[in-house]
Amino acid sequence: MLDLFSEEAPWSEPLAEGAVILRRRVRDEADELMTLVEAIASQNPFYHRITPGGHRMSVAMTNCGDFGWSTDARGYQYSGRDSVTGRRWPPMPDRFRSLAVACAQEAGFTGFHPDACLINRYEPGAKLSLHQDKDEEDFNQPIVSVSLGLPAVFQFGGFERGEATQRVLLEHGDVVVWGGPSRLRYHGILPLKPGIHPRTGGFRFNLTFRRAFR
Ligand code: SIN
Ligand code: FE2
Repeated sequence: MLDLFSEEAPWSEPLAEGAVILRRRVRDEADELMTLVEAIASQNPFYHRITPGGHRMSVAMTNCGDFGWSTDARGYQYSGRDSVTGRRWPPMPDRFRSLAVACAQEAGFTGFHPDACLINRYEPGAKLSLHQDKDEEDFNQPIVSVSLGLPAVFQFGGFERGEATQRVLLEHGDVVVWGGPSRLRYHGILPLKPGIHPRTGGFRFNLTFRRAFR
């Protein structure tokens, strides 16, 4: 059967000044990226962390890179070691780094040097409430976010939690980049709908590349 979409080149969809969706940008390499995610998770498993408020996060997380983002009773922070295992995070694969740098560049951000990659795993019902990414030292570096597996609705808002949000569906292989004047916009993920994806089964994965420290 003729598949009208599989041959389609990636395209970009602006969200706001300094924010863009690079549709299908990594679809061709998504399988390889998932294999790397699996290798990282075999070294450092996904955990449901507990927020400072005592809530178990519905999203399970792991990290790779020099620094990893996590939360525990003390707060939200980047650290060189996983506080659960006490071990350093697995290194960021070159494949990840080069892809993140290329995507940032395509979105207009040169000189992106990610030192942290948070990997989120969503199961049906898992969500990420509206938040700002503001635990990093330098807001001049953008955020690069790669979606893999089941689709999810991404909310992209303003600079106050209560402002109206755009809602866009993010699918396997889509990349969102936000920085510059959009760097501190609120964003989140609505509860994941159940489904089965050929590569990731009942899950959605998201890779978030950031520069944590100057
Ligand atoms: C995040 O805000 O850290 C992740 C967003 C996503 O899962 O797409
Ligand atoms: Fe975020």
